[in-house]
Amino acid sequence: MQELKVLSVEEKLNLDIPRISKEVIGAEFQKKVYLESYGCQMNFADTEIILSVMQQNGFTSTSNIQSADLIFLNTCSIRENAEQKVRNRLEHLRGLKKKNPDIKIGVLGCMAERLKTKLIDEEKVVDLVVGPDAYRDLPNLLGEVDEGQKAINVFLSREETYADIEPVRLNSNGISAFISIMRGCDNMCSFCVVPYTRGRERSRDASSILNEAKDLFNKGFKEVTLLGQNVDSYKWKDESNGVVVNFAQLLSSVADINLQLRVRFTTSHPKDMTDEVLKTMAAHPNICKNIHLPAQSGNSAVLDRMNRTYDREWYLERIASIKRILGDDCSITTDTIAGFCGETEAEHQDTLSLMDIVQYDYAYMFAYSERPNTPAAKKLKDDVSEEVKKRRLQEIIQLQSKHSFERNKLAIGKTHEVLIEGFSKRSAEHMCGRDGRNSMVVFPKGDFTKGNYVLVRIDDCTSATLLGEVVEILEPHKR
Ligand code: SAH
Ligand code: SF4
Ligand code: F3S
Repeated sequence: MQELKVLSVEEKLNLDIPRISKEVIGAEFQKKVYLESYGCQMNFADTEIILSVMQQNGFTSTSNIQSADLIFLNTCSIRENAEQKVRNRLEHLRGLKKKNPDIKIGVLGCMAERLKTKLIDEEKVVDLVVGPDAYRDLPNLLGEVDEGQKAINVFLSREETYADIEPVRLNSNGISAFISIMRGCDNMCSFCVVPYTRGRERSRDASSILNEAKDLFNKGFKEVTLLGQNVDSYKWKDESNGVVVNFAQLLSSVADINLQLRVRFTTSHPKDMTDEVLKTMAAHPNICKNIHLPAQSGNSAVLDRMNRTYDREWYLERIASIKRILGDDCSITTDTIAGFCGETEAEHQDTLSLMDIVQYDYAYMFAYSERPNTPAAKKLKDDVSEEVKKRRLQEIIQLQSKHSFERNKLAIGKTHEVLIEGFSKRSAEHMCGRDGRNSMVVFPKGDFTKGNYVLVRIDDCTSATLLGEVVEILEPHKR
């Protein structure tokens, strides 16, 4: 018996009223895609690439899942609970698909890459599996899905950077945007799944990055964050003249676009962060003074088992360099992992003592979660009990919250430059924005507008927020 083909809205329209063009039919008849993102900022930036590819192929995005023809989950594999979240979400979507069997569901991103066909086998609700380097293939894959097949592309590329695809800014405040400057990672931190889900490191064409930043600025954006797993190893060769651009040079060129454009970047790797980058930051007032320099652990033996390729002394020397070149005005943030393979109580204490020395402004803190097929999973034993991991993580969190509060208290009485992002979530009478150190600052709304640069005198704080009052609106020439 011949299989019945399910027709898409567009196909039906083409059959019924073949002479009416898509433009005339209008947006309400276009297929709608609902996108949900998990994981790191790079993954969120990828969702904007995905939407761009979809829009070029006649889709519109919707924030109402009930009205979607397609649901895409752009997923993360970094820890077990990140994957569990997506599995739970798929369980929920199973109910939605029962009510509306025409709806198609795609799993994209890192989980797609890690689990490949297993996702289709295990999660019957999934129609489409697409890895992070295969988004250009979405139109073809959707064609297969339209024909009633399951579709998959998890090919990892050595070249793909999506340099020519202009991201469609999603949930944007119109002020601040992410720019991916590279993809993949060539480090082999033993705990980490990223090299397997994102493939080899490759840097994006510097001129395409500059053009994207200029374009954002011309559209009214005031802040860009340059993204990479290890921005310090950014390296791009212009084949036309043989000139090689490193990260410090790229950073400097982006900062030179306009003094009104703030520049941030993440993530710096302690083994690669150079004084040249720090000096570039010092030389440009519009490069925000904030460095995310994940330590992971404060103990050299643990760092060695993690294959981080630096030790505690090296890390502390990099911190000293930051203070030497940028002074105490530069905020420093970190990532830590509690309970890595074989971590003893004394090794854990070294993480706490490193935190005491550095006095981080903020930290992302995690309990170790073994990821299948990583070097640690293959060679080391995940032998710290869940209970001990939790307790150590709790100690790290408590210490960090004390440090964050103390760091914030130091700001009281000082004046910080803030880029206004909008109204405060908690009160319509207040506006908020970030200072150069990346702290959230809240102040009475006055008659300021989103996108204004203002000087705020800090009067009070919590461990998460600075509170103050605007003392001056900065005219463009004053920055
Ligand atoms: N490229 C960045 C990190 C990206 S992943 C860097 O090198 O610093 C973000 C953070 O997740 C890591 O810094 C690490 O702290 C944490 N992480 C990664 N793998 C993990 C795992 N298996 N278990 C727990 N935390 C992990
Ligand atoms: Fe993972 Fe290490 Fe690469 Fe960061 S640098 S993404 S932790 S392998
Ligand atoms: Fe997660 Fe992939 Fe980012 S594993 S942290 S979404 S690179």
